[in-house]
Amino acid sequence: MANWQATVNENELQDSNPTPVTIEGQSIVLCKVNGEVAAFANTCPHAGLPLDGGHVDEDGVITCPFHGYTYHVCTGKNTTFETDPQLQTFPVRITDGKVEVQVEE
Ligand code: FES
Repeated sequence: MANWQATVNENELQDSNPTPVTIEGQSIVLCKVNGEVAAFANTCPHAGLPLDGGHVDEDGVITCPFHGYTYHVCTGKNTTFETDPQLQTFPVRITDGKVEVQVEE
């Protein structure tokens, strides 16, 4: 069964501004990109460090603040080394203005 968890109001998110939230003990980053909200793990696949201090460009690519690896926040695609691990992403929906994220049970 889907496990949707409510987080912040959508209007609290600003474009390209990573916002960390904790969902069931898991650190997840929300980020609005061109009006769409993406949710991804606050863990860089390179060395496991947090991504929420990274810069997100207008195409939705985040640059990790530690060693500069880049990932697309909507698809999780590693845009530095395509064969390296991808960023974990989560399904998102908006319900009554609230951002809901689907996490595993
Ligand atoms: S921990 Fe993110 S690039 Fe190394």
